[in-house]
Amino acid sequence: MVALNEIPRRRYTAGATPLEHLRRLSAELGGPQIWIKRDDRLGLTQGGNKTRKLEYLIADALNQGADTLITVGGVQSNHCRLTLSAARAEGLDCHLIVEEDLGPDGTALGPAGANPPEHTGNFLLFDLLGADSVTVLGHGADLLGEAEILAEKLRGEGRIPYIIPVGGSNPIGALGYVDCAHELLDQFAEEGVDSPTIVTPSGSAGMQAGLIVGLHSAGSTVPIIGINVSRSQAEQEPKIVDLVDSTARFLDLPHVPRDATTGLGDYVGTGYALPTPEMAEAVRLFARTEGILLDPVYTGKAAAGLIDLIRSGRFPSEDTVVFVHSGGVPGLYARTQAFT
Ligand SMILES: Cc1ncc(COP(=O)(O)O)c(C=O)c1O
Repeated sequence: MVALNEIPRRRYTAGATPLEHLRRLSAELGGPQIWIKRDDRLGLTQGGNKTRKLEYLIADALNQGADTLITVGGVQSNHCRLTLSAARAEGLDCHLIVEEDLGPDGTALGPAGANPPEHTGNFLLFDLLGADSVTVLGHGADLLGEAEILAEKLRGEGRIPYIIPVGGSNPIGALGYVDCAHELLDQFAEEGVDSPTIVTPSGSAGMQAGLIVGLHSAGSTVPIIGINVSRSQAEQEPKIVDLVDSTARFLDLPHVPRDATTGLGDYVGTGYALPTPEMAEAVRLFARTEGILLDPVYTGKAAAGLIDLIRSGRFPSEDTVVFVHSGGVPGLYARTQAFT
């Protein structure tokens, strides 16, 4: 087994993120006790789950002598914002290649320009943080293929580019959440949080896969329910399992059983980043009861799933649920129409 503390890592957050008991929300929903892991309070610009992944990814980039980062995502990508922020902190160049959103009914809109991004939310921050380039492509474009073409061009100019995949979700990025699993287990022991179930958004799956591997490697049987933000259960679970397996192999850990992986697909709505009424209700409920802002694309949909599971009796009142707030709040300001 490879010891996590021997793997190169940069540090972008001082100490553990808070684990808070949401007493008012728990009372309002009348179900289990709900706790929240505040990964929206991680370091780099406006925090969020990518900061943990980037601690390992950027260390790897620096070890390879990279002077330029290239990454990909949606036009409101939190991952692109945080990669760019890490680049600024490290004095690296950073190029972003992003795809336009789906149309309002979930249809792909085709060529670039069919659904251009507004200069708000994360897209505004790409500008303020001074991205070296932002290339906007039509929905469904081959983003990684474009990243490879750009990397080749930069190499020709004498640069050393490092490509980070969508969401920072490869075994190196997932290490951030292997580490987070250990942080959570320490906090459960300190706070007396007994036999919880963890509920987390699941997108490119690095966060969920890392948590699964981290808990398993610590001998914990704490279950994790992923709430998918872009795929059905049948499409998402194999992705999570693949990343669990490759991350466990990377760390030379024993195989993690397949039944450790759940990714519920019922709360996506018409498509990735497209609002649902349940998401809007969840965002308002967290804000009004606890003063906590969620985001409309990830944590809002995951919270809608959690609320539905509670209302449908999935968790008895003696249970404890830990909801991972993975950040993304800048995206709220790009989707204000979902709340009108
Ligand atoms: C705010 C936020 N939450 C959750 C996720 C999903 O995490 P993962 O891609 O590791 O599944 C993302 C991914 O972009 C995100 O930006």
